[in-house]
Amino acid sequence: MRRSVALTAIATIGLTGSVFASQIAPENVTFVDDIEVPISLTGQAGDAAKGREWYAGRKLGNCLACHATTDLNELPFHGEVGPAMDGVADRYEEAQLRAILVNSKKVFGDQTIMPGFYVVNPGARTAGDFQGQTIMSAQQIEDVIAYLKTLTE
Ligand code: HEC
Repeated sequence: MRRSVALTAIATIGLTGSVFASQIAPENVTFVDDIEVPISLTGQAGDAAKGREWYAGRKLGNCLACHATTDLNELPFHGEVGPAMDGVADRYEEAQLRAILVNSKKVFGDQTIMPGFYVVNPGARTAGDFQGQTIMSAQQIEDVIAYLKTLTE
């Protein structure tokens, strides 16, 4: 019941075109000391279940391709290029996770092979490669953060 009320509200706001009013555009994300983004990109809580999907999805986050994750043991092909994500919620605050996801290069330096998921990529190789777009939407970033916060040890 509550859910359908909320969905109606979203649909109504959507018609007026202001549903993204509180969303922070990629170029306006404010970093603190290059390692924290304290403010939600959408002003809305992330959905951990959806975040788990984006995280594992080969076309979107593809996080699993580089980060082994025990919570996703039902899926094959966990990469080991980056650190395992088990217990990541114990190692990082939410604001730090948001900074890493938005623009990993600010946090880890330009050499990191981890993509920045909420930066507009002018250097994309082809138009199909997210040229002029971010890999994830603001809400998808918040959803993945919510999922990462479940990965405690
Ligand atoms: C192409 C490989 C690659 C992909 C894809 C990738 N990462 Fe990473 N990630 C890395 C590497 C490598 C590091 C370690 C930092 C460094 O040295 O560059 C890292 C570091 C991290 C860290 C810090 C971990 C720690 O323990 O210090 C987090 C959190 C993280 N990644 C989350 C994600 C999430 C969530 C996704 C998907 C949305 C993702 N990564 C996608 C390669 C990747």
